[in-house]
This record gives sequence, structure tokens and C-alpha cells, in this order.
Amino acid sequence: MYSTLLFDPSTDGNNRIAKVTVNRPDKLNLLNSTVMNELKELFEKLKDDDSVDVVILTGSGEKAFVAGADIKELNALEAKSGKDFSAKGQEVFNLIENLGKPVIAAVNGFALGGGCEIALACHMRVASENAKFGQPEVNLGIIPGYGGTQRLARLIGKGRAMEMILTGDMIDAKTAYDFGLVNKVVPQAELIKTVEELATKILSKGQIAVRMSVKTINATHEMGQAEGQKYEAELFGYCCGTKDFKEGTTAFLEKRKAEFKGE
Ligand code: COA
Repeated sequence: MYSTLLFDPSTDGNNRIAKVTVNRPDKLNLLNSTVMNELKELFEKLKDDDSVDVVILTGSGEKAFVAGADIKELNALEAKSGKDFSAKGQEVFNLIENLGKPVIAAVNGFALGGGCEIALACHMRVASENAKFGQPEVNLGIIPGYGGTQRLARLIGKGRAMEMILTGDMIDAKTAYDFGLVNKVVPQAELIKTVEELATKILSKGQIAVRMSVKTINATHEMGQAEGQKYEAELFGYCCGTKDFKEGTTAFLEKRKAEFKGE
């Protein structure tokens, strides 16, 4: 049981799509230390739970996905505790990015500061039309500390990340889509259905191939192309040794739908 999270282990009825909801709607789903500790505990379980293939992350209510860190907690930080606070938060978001299976953010409202950063740590982002994204830390005299200076620039480019981080301005969902920050924008009422459909589509594929794709893209994103291609060839070869690969290619040749078993 979690005091700040809702956990649905099986939105698909087969324990393969799990949904995590940050559940502090009266507090804009702010990330305080309890939320961060609970996210760490839950995502560690999800990493080890082999039955779960896709995770959806969202916020409660229709106003906020996650409006950031709790400024009351931030206010008490000093140089040393601030560094530890940042490192601890980075560890939780790295866990999400390196979960080994896709995590899709369903961004249902404000995604500010740590809220934008947790969405960035997910592998894909789908936003509702009312969603707003921002890194307003400069307004508080700090910089993004949960990976935002790194992931935002890598995702949308240095110039756009500079603008968002230096002005602290929010951007709307359409601009976020134009920037490549989100994969899709849909009406609020269709958000979870759209993300579940995306998750279901991923479930219909060979899960070893899905996991190896996540692993390869994550691991090689920072490498030069030659080194990245070596890594890609390793994991491509690994996939070729699986039953899923034989089934996928045979099914195509036999003009039937593949039945992947994750083996
Ligand atoms: N930490 C602590 N309290 C916060 C907060 C945060 N990050 N964000 C909002 N709140 C509080 C507000 O102080 C307000 O408290 P009150 O009801 O006791 O007055 C309450 O949440 C509602 O916020 P309010 O500003 O009245 O709502 P709004 O709809 O006008 O604006 C936001 C919503 C999210 C745009 C606005 O609250 C905001 O900009 N928050 C700061 C976000 C931020 O800087 N996040 C990054 C932190 S690193």
C-alpha cells in the first residue's frame, strides 16, 4: 500500500500493463520525499516483475500531472543537502529510464520542474490538450536537478532547452508536440484510452525485441555511431537467437499473425 501513489497492476486484465498514478490531486501531485520514496519502491518492484511488459505513469485529477517538487521541502535545502537531494531524485528517475521495459507518461495537466523531468525519464509521452510543460526552477534560484538539464536538451535540442530553462516559461501541449517533447496530443477524456492503446500495440510485438530496443536506444544514445552500431549488432544477434525471432519471421512468411511467447 502506498500513501501517495495508486497502483493498478493490470489495466489489461492480464497483468501485463501496469498503471502508476501520483495521487495527491489536492496538492497538484507534487513530488515530496514520500512520493519519491514510494516511486523508488514501486519501480524497483516493477523492474523485477517479469510479468509486466509496459508501465503507464500519470497523475490524479485533470489539473496536474505533477507540478514539481514541493517548494516547502526545497526551501530547507543548503549546499550539501541540495546536492544529495538532486542525486537521490536522479537515481529514482534513472530507475524509470532504465526499467528495461517501456514506460509511457500520460501527461494530464501541469508537468513542471520535477514533473517535466519525470515525464522526460519515461520512454514516450502522450499529453492531454490542457497539459503544460515547464522548467521553472530559475524562478526559485535553482536549476533543474532531476536530470532536466540533460534529458531536455537531448530530446528537444540545446536551443529550445536553453529557452525553456532560462526563461522558466511554460509551453502548451501543441508547442511541446512541435518541439518533439511529446509523441501525441489528445483531448483529456481520451488520454488514458490512447495510452492504453499504445501500450496494447507494444504488447502485440515480441517482448524480447521491445526490451532490447529500449536497452539499445538508451545505452547507445550517448555513444558515437560506430560504438553504437557495435552494441546494436550484439543485441540484434541476441534477438536472432530467440524463439520469438523464428516465430516472427516464420509467421510473416506463412502470412499469419505472429504468436510471441517472450522466449
Ligand atoms: N510547491 C509547493 N506548493 C505549491 C507548488 C509547489 N511546487 N505549486 C503550487 N503550490 C501550491 C500553491 O502555493 C497553492 O497553495 P495555497 O492553496 O496554499 O495557496 C496551491 O498549490 C495551488 O497553486 P496555485 O498557484 O494557487 O494554482 P494555480 O492554478 O494558480 O497555478 C501552478 C498552478 C502549478 C501553475 C502554480 O502553482 C505554480 O507555478 N507552481 C509552482 C510550480 C513550480 O515552480 N514547480 C517546480 C518546482 S522545482
